[in-house]
Amino acid sequence: MTAASHLLLLFYCTDVTPKDQPRPFPDGFMFGVSTAAYQIEGAWNEDGKGASIWDTLTHMDPSPIKDHSTGDVAVDSYHLYKHDIEIMKELGVHFYRFSISWPRILPDGFIHNINEAGLKYYDNLIDEIVRAGITPFVTIYHWDLPEVLQRLGGWANPHIVNWFADYAKIVYDRYANKVPYWITINEPKQICYEGYGSDAKAPMLNLSGIAEYLCAKNVLLAHAKAYRLYDDKYRKVHNGSVGISISCSWYEPATDTNEQDIQAAQDARQFDWGLYAHPIFSYNGDFPHEVKKNIYHKSAEQGFPKSRLPRLSAEDVSNIKGSSDFFGMNSYTTKLIYRDASLEGMYPTPSYMDDISAVFVKDPTWPQAKSSWLQSVPWGFYKLIKEVSKLYDRPPIFITENGWSSGLGLLDEERINYFKRYMNAMLNAIDEGCQVKAYSVWSLMDNFEWMNGYTEKFGLYEVNFGTLERYPRKSAYFYKEVIRTNSLDLYYEPENLTEAGHSARSRTTADDDNELI
Ligand code: NOJ
Repeated sequence: MTAASHLLLLFYCTDVTPKDQPRPFPDGFMFGVSTAAYQIEGAWNEDGKGASIWDTLTHMDPSPIKDHSTGDVAVDSYHLYKHDIEIMKELGVHFYRFSISWPRILPDGFIHNINEAGLKYYDNLIDEIVRAGITPFVTIYHWDLPEVLQRLGGWANPHIVNWFADYAKIVYDRYANKVPYWITINEPKQICYEGYGSDAKAPMLNLSGIAEYLCAKNVLLAHAKAYRLYDDKYRKVHNGSVGISISCSWYEPATDTNEQDIQAAQDARQFDWGLYAHPIFSYNGDFPHEVKKNIYHKSAEQGFPKSRLPRLSAEDVSNIKGSSDFFGMNSYTTKLIYRDASLEGMYPTPSYMDDISAVFVKDPTWPQAKSSWLQSVPWGFYKLIKEVSKLYDRPPIFITENGWSSGLGLLDEERINYFKRYMNAMLNAIDEGCQVKAYSVWSLMDNFEWMNGYTEKFGLYEVNFGTLERYPRKSAYFYKEVIRTNSLDLYYEPENLTEAGHSARSRTTADDDNELI
């Protein structure tokens, strides 16, 4: 089948049916906003912070970042955090998910050198969040590995399991009394595949087909060790919840009759998120069958004496299995998949893409965000939540990230549409018994979007990168209303404001009165 004829099949008209009444969220449903240290803090070398792999990468010459920017200053939340908490208060969020920078706490990665100023910064941040009546939700690792540890192999070195647990212990010791929700590690696939198996993220190793799987095993073991540590030492006293955030896309067969496409979509889902979710949430606690099978066969064909996917021993399985109090799901989009003979030679060998052996296509009719990978496909979000619930026996699900990228501009109708359609899809899944307990927007404000620098804006608040002032977008008003009413009104339109009027009225700075409306 040609790509063109596939595209004809791609128009998928099923969509969630809009209901005309506001749809309530369950009682106690939690709404939040998410950020990550490197993307917002700045202060890259202040108060004793060490270098991370993102400092190294962004300082490379020539820079691989699209606009040649860095997170050196980012949106300066290191200094403006009080202001950021003010705008969260305006939104009315229940929780704030932010990450702790490992090299700010341990400049050399190891615990022989603990940076008290770094710990103090997060003390102040957390105290201020709590004072604002917001619940702190901490990600222990969101991609900013201390550079020293990278030189030792980073996530490909099995010793990192202990390095990470040592770091987690410091963080728990200091903050467990104030932080009820924890994510150990954000998005293992992006760490491993994008950073080790390709060059889409730091440290850009591009050791495809091998490094991403070594990394996957170590990430799972590190996560499990940090989870068990909380269980053993902190849970009794502090009674918090610990999980992991896994990036999950939905993969839909491009045709629903072709067995190969159906299998390809199933494989793609298992490679994308099953690889990390299955060992933690499934009954057998191992890597998914599809992943093991494909890599085993490909490895044999390629002359490897054994599978490139490392084995999980019985001890590994018993550590990893069940090591999460909830399923942290970061989800944005859907892709269509097909598999046929035209694939021959399409991907390098060995590689993760060749191990999946499928073609990923976009449906041009789906609304397209500024980020090339992101399209609005609410029914895919619905199917994803249903599938995860079915596969893993209805775990509590926290949507730890969902969001839309745009260019500059405060009147972000497209983002509002995206949120309406995705929240509606999520409510459909909840109505059908899925245990979604929380939802968090990526992101509170525009920030450093990794390889795309500041060219893609995900914020409910727009940031003027000259002055660092934050301005609420129309979607901020929309989200505030969702939270205030604990319901989704598909017809709710925030006030009809002009771009200029909107900006003048809602200008917020650290010194202003921060009333949003
Ligand atoms: C997932 C990542 O966790 C976050 O860092 C990133 O900015 C968003 N997706 C948007 O790409």
